[in-house]
Amino acid sequence: REKKLKEYLSIYSQYVDFYHDELLKNKTNSNARDYLKNRSLGKEEVKKFKIGYIKKNPNFFDKLKDEFSEQALVESGLFYLDEKKKIYLERFRSRLIFPINNISGQPIALGGRIIEKLDYLAKYINSPETAFFKKGSNLYNLDLARKLSNKIDHVYLVEGYMDVVGLSKNGIENVVANLGTSLTDRQISILNQFFNDIIVSFDGDESGYKAALRAAENSIKELQPEKQISFIFLPDGEDPDSYVNKNGKANFIDFTKQAKISIHQFIFNHYKQQTENNPSSMAIFEKKLRSIAATIKDDFIKKYVLEFFLEKISLLTPHSNVGKKNFYTKKI
Ligand code: CTP
Ligand code: MN
Ligand code: MN
Ligand code: MN
Ligand code: MN
Repeated sequence: REKKLKEYLSIYSQYVDFYHDELLKNKTNSNARDYLKNRSLGKEEVKKFKIGYIKKNPNFFDKLKDEFSEQALVESGLFYLDEKKKIYLERFRSRLIFPINNISGQPIALGGRIIEKLDYLAKYINSPETAFFKKGSNLYNLDLARKLSNKIDHVYLVEGYMDVVGLSKNGIENVVANLGTSLTDRQISILNQFFNDIIVSFDGDESGYKAALRAAENSIKELQPEKQISFIFLPDGEDPDSYVNKNGKANFIDFTKQAKISIHQFIFNHYKQQTENNPSSMAIFEKKLRSIAATIKDDFIKKYVLEFFLEKISLLTPHSNVGKKNFYTKKI
């Protein structure tokens, strides 16, 4: 297995280096460079994140075949056999590629984005899970973000590669992305090794809100003393990348400071919004919050979260804002 890992890492590093160079230097890739320019990304970000571009008809498989077996190349997830044509194809052809690194900074997977909208192609694809890449145990940009953890106690958790790159371009580098899946316990515990406060900053749309709620309900179980998980909700239609490019670093940080809410406050707000001012609805509300508090593993956190919920409930009166919509960005 040791030998297999070495081979795997070598395939990925050669692959990433090759297509990174292609993006920077190959004349025929000016369409990809123009795409990045239109998103106000230049050489600096391309180099920092080793972004690459793969043409429509690449032929790197043939070069790698001199050094690696067909089996090893297929097992990397970078290639697959087209059963009809009996040829090996590159999974990420016609895409910009974002290397996903392990904690030591070695690429072990890719994210790939199309640069022209085509209905029959997904906007993003990721490497499949392989022997050496498990989605739920990795985070994009953790290798760089963790280096800041001796100076900065908090990390932004965003949805996408472009959010990481866009924030970095604007001087915010303590950012990681989960890889198009729900946030796992493992990812929380990895982040907790380096940072005290995880600030979940998903997109300001319905799917971002739903993903944030799922993340909150799942990760509150793992909450530890001295650790925090908080949430910000961006204005409708914005994601961290678009927001910071419009408003700049200082504004993004100010927004975070005033809009950030704790995980227990977010969960309370969410379920309060669904509650009507009558006993049966209030009963369901209280049961739900009690059942969420009961999932918390740490006994002290469990105790204080439950107290927080019950005190908040006791403050609700017939004139309170039970069920009021769109209040979740405000502190109560
Ligand atoms: N994603 C995916 N497959 C898709 C769409 C999204 O795996 N078809 C994942 C990717 O990891 C992506 C993240 O979800 O980075 C966020 O998706 P989205 O918000 O749609 O993309 P953005 O990061 O905003 O990318 P862009 O600004 O380039 O459109
Ligand atoms: Mn902080
Ligand atoms: Mn999104
Ligand atoms: Mn987005
Ligand atoms: Mn975006």
